[in-house]
Amino acid sequence: MVFLRLKWISADLLASVCLMKRAVCPGSFDPVTLGHLDIIERASAQFDEVVIAVLVNRTKSSMFTVQERMEMITKTTAHLPNIRVDSWSGLLVEYCKSNDIQSIVKGLRAVTDFDYELQMAQVNLQASGVETMFMATAPSHSFLSSSLVKELAHYGGDVSSMVPKIVNEALKARVAESGN
Ligand code: PNS
Repeated sequence: MVFLRLKWISADLLASVCLMKRAVCPGSFDPVTLGHLDIIERASAQFDEVVIAVLVNRTKSSMFTVQERMEMITKTTAHLPNIRVDSWSGLLVEYCKSNDIQSIVKGLRAVTDFDYELQMAQVNLQASGVETMFMATAPSHSFLSSSLVKELAHYGGDVSSMVPKIVNEALKARVAESGN
């Protein structure tokens, strides 16, 4: 009887794991900004599990290593129970397939993001059937990008209202190290 009951519970658990709605928030996150965190928090409310995947973007050189970027994301999302942080170098849809992820979540800041994001969403849908869901960035973050933050930090600008505290500190340290 006990055995049967246990079997029943584990089958139930298995079913709920299989039915989990999983999404990925992909990006370079070099470094994570308050704009990213806004999208991550809102996505975490919509899905059972959200994987933040730090992807290697071949077209960009980076300020932080993948490991450093993952650590910053892990620390700044510690209050969200359904977030997992991972990294991937390759096609995003391959990552989705091997991790049983049905949706990609992207933030849209302005129309300037739209053409490129639409193209990627369509290619990814055609290649794999994985859906892309766009979330409107909060107006207060619509100008914000990691590139802008790095540029400002490089010239000693104040980015404390754009990134979490630990990222601000990491930026200052990296700029001081680079010495230019
Ligand atoms: O933060 P970014 O740099 O704008 O993120 C872009 C990223 C890394 C999400 C995008 O370049 C990507 O998905 N790269 C993985 C490779 C891939 O699947 N490319 C899409 C084929 S059209």
